[in-house]
Amino acid sequence: MHESFTSSDVRQNALLQYWEKVRLDSFVSAATNDAQSTESFADLKAILPDILALSFGGRGEVIEGRRAGPVQARTVPSAGALYPYEIFVCVPEGLTRENTYLFRPDQNSLVAYGATCASEMARCAEISQRLPNQPDAVVVIASRPWLSMKKYGDRGYIYSTLDAGHAVFGLVAACKALNIDASVFIDIDKHAVIKALDLDNTCIQPVAAISLKIANNIAVNVPLGKGRWERDGRAVLEKPEADERNNWDRLLHPIHERGIAQIPHPLEVTESLFSMLRSVSDNDPSEKAATISTPSIETIYARRSVRGFQNAPVEIKELQKFCKAIDARALTDFAKISAGISAHLALVRGEDDEPCIYQINDAGLVKKNKIIDKSDIASILRERCMNQKILKNLAGLIVLHAPAGQFLAGSNTNSFQAIHYHAAHVAQQMSLAAVDASFGITCIGGFDGRKLSKIFAFSDDEEIIYVLALGIPEDCAVKLDREAVPWAHGGHPSDSKG
Ligand SMILES: Cc1cc2nc3c(=O)[nH]c(=O)nc-3n(C[C@H](O)[C@H](O)[C@H](O)COP(=O)(O)O)c2cc1C
Repeated sequence: MHESFTSSDVRQNALLQYWEKVRLDSFVSAATNDAQSTESFADLKAILPDILALSFGGRGEVIEGRRAGPVQARTVPSAGALYPYEIFVCVPEGLTRENTYLFRPDQNSLVAYGATCASEMARCAEISQRLPNQPDAVVVIASRPWLSMKKYGDRGYIYSTLDAGHAVFGLVAACKALNIDASVFIDIDKHAVIKALDLDNTCIQPVAAISLKIANNIAVNVPLGKGRWERDGRAVLEKPEADERNNWDRLLHPIHERGIAQIPHPLEVTESLFSMLRSVSDNDPSEKAATISTPSIETIYARRSVRGFQNAPVEIKELQKFCKAIDARALTDFAKISAGISAHLALVRGEDDEPCIYQINDAGLVKKNKIIDKSDIASILRERCMNQKILKNLAGLIVLHAPAGQFLAGSNTNSFQAIHYHAAHVAQQMSLAAVDASFGITCIGGFDGRKLSKIFAFSDDEEIIYVLALGIPEDCAVKLDREAVPWAHGGHPSDSKG
């Protein structure tokens, strides 16, 4: 149990109970209403499939998947390439033959699904009164935790939440690249959305609604031609089998519920360590233009996870450039984490030989302290991340952390997801910022937070939420699915199906 909360805190708070349950270290011992013009309607029909393809669709490359074989790589990462969520898209009445579509990332296609139009979804989700304009489209990301939990056990719930967060911020990044306004809401009426999308008894949980407003000056004059509307057919969701149902039923009550407070958080630009980056840059507009860069379409398609690292150092200059390229601004209603999500880097293969801890903040990289008395810190870091083979030769480990215990104890249910969405947001933007750097990044969900914290000397209430490994990519490395992973998460390789 974490030193900062007492056992009575945990007994009385279902969220803290769940937090304790999914901590990896408990499993791993060893290792307003505008009239809509016809013109913008035409734009919307042309551009919407491409927006979605850019946000989370296939990037035109096949990667090694599970035993089932190769899978289509996507523009967003996912633990084990399992992509445990569905993407529903509600469009204005009359745009096309149906009002709700299911986006199929493997085919980059929109398949007719249901009758709820964009304005109706905005009303159901209780976001219309919080939006300045009637949305052109509303995208609902709904997670299907079982896809991840059948492989990773209870910890898989966290991965499904982080994965959904990457999808949400994949959409936000694509919208920025195309000059489309996107607002992210997680404080939505989930029960009403379940009804509107006919999700009862599907073991699928709506997690976020994103409203899109397409301005006349969209960034691309010519559609990208990647996404398409499926002319025929209708999407039917796969029915859950007994294992999935049992898993769903045993997930703690708060996980299924809307926030206890029932008071929507105001929509505002996310606060994180990167708000500091903005405030510094605001003093000098020229510096702002030079530092924060909106990801381009090419950058989004070029993102991928590194599958192995070379035994080579990373240059500090490159790391500084990377820090300054991160654009973590987004309009959301996320609960604020008092101190934001913060980031530290343990650099073990830098240009100077001494392993050091750096803080990533408004100034880029700030050196904090040397890592002393650690003869082989790179191996120790690897060991604290389940000894994953991919981490051999890593140059550094970025940890995203926050005072999670305090935050969860004093907040409503959505906060549990919000804390992971904040982290996934920062991680997604870091993954994009790494594209133009001379090093590469892989998001890591398999880590022992408590042991890792010791290296960074964090206070007891600071929890590591998410980790990113960085280094010089070994281009020919292959990452086959690791049989050890299900075992290390409390199961046995033979338990993993499909
Ligand atoms: C939440 C999350 C956790 C992940 N954890 C790990 C991990 O522990 N080890 C690893 O090698 N890759 C990890 N990955 C990277 C995925 O394996 C990778 O995203 C997936 O194979 C798809 O490949 P791509 O990112 O190149 O598209 C993780 C990704 C996410 C989003």
